[in-house]
Amino acid sequence: MRVLLTGGAGYIGSHTALCLLNAGHEVVALDNLYNASPEALRRVEALTGKKAPLVVGDCTDEAAVTAVFEQYRPDAVIHFAGLKAVGESVAKPLDYYQNNLDATMTLCRVMPRFGCRVLVFSSSATVYGTNQEMPLREDFPTGCTNPYGWTKWISERILTDVAAADSTRSFVLLRYFNPIGAHESGRIGEDPAGIPNNLMPYICQVASGKLDHLRVFGNDYPTRDGTGERDYIHVMDLAEGHLAAIEYAAEHTGVEIFNLGTGTPYSVLDIVHSFEKANNLTIPYEITPRRPGDIAVCYADPAKAREKLHWQAKRDMTAMCRDAWNWQKQNPQGFGDK
Ligand code: NAD
Ligand code: UD1
Repeated sequence: MRVLLTGGAGYIGSHTALCLLNAGHEVVALDNLYNASPEALRRVEALTGKKAPLVVGDCTDEAAVTAVFEQYRPDAVIHFAGLKAVGESVAKPLDYYQNNLDATMTLCRVMPRFGCRVLVFSSSATVYGTNQEMPLREDFPTGCTNPYGWTKWISERILTDVAAADSTRSFVLLRYFNPIGAHESGRIGEDPAGIPNNLMPYICQVASGKLDHLRVFGNDYPTRDGTGERDYIHVMDLAEGHLAAIEYAAEHTGVEIFNLGTGTPYSVLDIVHSFEKANNLTIPYEITPRRPGDIAVCYADPAKAREKLHWQAKRDMTAMCRDAWNWQKQNPQGFGDK
């Protein structure tokens, strides 16, 4: 298949591009480079020996999206493009609603004009809101606590309604848990702008000496060691989940939702200690108050993806910590040209 990757120059998009190319698919990326560097796809080309063309353009721009379809005629779309910082979404809700929802709707409008009916969407475990029962199953109630989360929730709603109105469409909604790590080569990885919000990139920058120490947000949660527990998944496992999802979507119609997680929760201190052990380093940390909006525990029931997509995560926490550090060590300035 020829697959259009919106946001394909970003963290998950570039790893998925590599995975699709290695599986014999063709890719083209549409990215406005708001949070990415063209270097990521150049490295994907070097790693695979295959073309990964990048069109610099905005997914909310119907003319730009139409031009990509005219030139490349993709068979399927994986829609990664979006703004993703939770805190920023609280401060700038309109930017988030406009960018993330317009992008989804623009694709839905343009695709059928070119006979393209298959779309895989990057959703998030954040749509499970404050559910208490774990592990989280796809049929659990949903609801969000911030504008970023609502853009995912509303995009899921839009895609469900569009598929209901046109029975030829096939949409797969992937709810990611916490992607971390990097391709094992260390040539591509996560390149956050400024001080990282998320745990693993923060730990990596402490390890490299860029940041002084980690702040552990709360040790009074009702968990094994009092720190927050999450379902961390290696980004290459996540990328392989997209390969399975696109192949599934091409053979079905309608909407299907899948969790992409490992099903195993790790606490913040588990991650610190795994990182130290995997890389033979020390991560200084202090316990600070909880981060507002954080929940205690969040992990997936990955059974549905195992059964229907024949996919499951294979890489363990040691590999996640080793590969995250391998990328950071080789690329202390990320891609350098963001
Ligand atoms: P990322 O920021 O690295 O990638 C997103 C890409 O989309 C960036 O390259 C950015 O430049 C591009 N983009 C944003 N708006 C665009 C637009 N209007 N037109 C064209 N390009 C645009 O983020 P990521 O971590 O790779 O996430 C990919 C997707 O997965 C996002 O939709 C994100 O919300 C979702 N997601 C990510 C996580 C995570 O922890 N990384 C978890 C759950 C869901
Ligand atoms: C966050 C977002 C979520 C998004 C995900 C991936 C919030 C509330 N949620 O999830 O919507 O899908 O990122 O982008 O922002 N921690 C520390 N110190 C740090 C950083 C994190 O102790 O410096 C802890 C957190 O309290 C949490 C865990 O580490 O318990 C993981 O945090 P993080 O990597 O930010 O992911 P989430 O909060 O799960």
